[in-house]
Amino acid sequence: MSGTSEIKALQEGERELLLAIRESDFGRNLLAGLSRSPRSIAPKFFYDATGSALFDRICELPEYYPTRTELDILHSNASQIAEQMGAHANIIEFGAGSLEKIRVLLDAFPPDRAPDRFIPVDISAEHLEDSAQSLRSAYPCLEVLPIAGDYMKPEQLVDIEEMGGRKVGFFSGSTIGNFTPNETTAFLRRAQKMLAGGGLLVGVDLVKDAQTLHQAYNDSEGVTAAFNLNLLVRANAELQADFDPDGFMHQAFYNEPMQRVEMHLVSLRRQTVRVAGYNFRFEEGDTIHTENSHKFTVEGFREIAAAAGFRPGPVWTDDAGLFSIHWLESPSATPVPR
Ligand code: AVI
Repeated sequence: MSGTSEIKALQEGERELLLAIRESDFGRNLLAGLSRSPRSIAPKFFYDATGSALFDRICELPEYYPTRTELDILHSNASQIAEQMGAHANIIEFGAGSLEKIRVLLDAFPPDRAPDRFIPVDISAEHLEDSAQSLRSAYPCLEVLPIAGDYMKPEQLVDIEEMGGRKVGFFSGSTIGNFTPNETTAFLRRAQKMLAGGGLLVGVDLVKDAQTLHQAYNDSEGVTAAFNLNLLVRANAELQADFDPDGFMHQAFYNEPMQRVEMHLVSLRRQTVRVAGYNFRFEEGDTIHTENSHKFTVEGFREIAAAAGFRPGPVWTDDAGLFSIHWLESPSATPVPR
């Protein structure tokens, strides 16, 4: 990386802009990720407005089985799931998105056991308020209290921690598979404490044959490729970068020993890219590792949840064993004996 001294020669306004870019979450993450070997970036940066729209399209693709399989499992088992969630719950949905899946569950509660509150937590404030408004119209007795924030940042969840009543979490789509193993443990530990006395419903993608996984992440319409490459377009728009998206190629494969699908962006030629005033050299074939999508066995995930303090409960899967939904009970905090 080079470019530190050049910043001194810039106009005051430009200099401040460049420093702000370098300090932003995306800027810091990308600059650090491009400076280490192998190069990588956290997958949360896929989701600007274009990336979110591309992800919505991925969910509709014939090859991308997780979304429709999880919805089918929810439909087939909604009343059993509602029973586990319990009467008059406060449901917290992490990374809520369009709020389509929660409707399946809300419809399954008998009126005298309906949830009291629904708290969707999502980073995209605008999207969240629109979805919350349409949920309020459809369920007038439900109090909908959206939180625009990052559920991985504990300080943004203080209101939930302080809330009384029975709290149950909902974390769908196998987004948990995009975390590093350390992030998974940290998230589950925090959720277990926050939901003590209630529980967590979590969608988890399962280990399966490499071909099904390969097709799901290399769709024939090229939507997943566009989703991956959009990261470079976003960097150009937000970080004064000059990536040539045609100079990189989408790559996705199943890393069987690690039980994860990996996505990378591969440089198609030798090139130098500028990001926020720094230069980065790429040789042909050099990659940026953009995502891991971990796959689990049912037993393996239950062990991870138990290690984080949950009591694993019922698990629902589809007939082909593609996807799983786990109910994890969160024991009440036991008072420390004096
Ligand atoms: C959001 N997440 C669970 C998706 C996945 O399958 O890991 C993101 C995705 N990446 C490529 N296709 C979909």
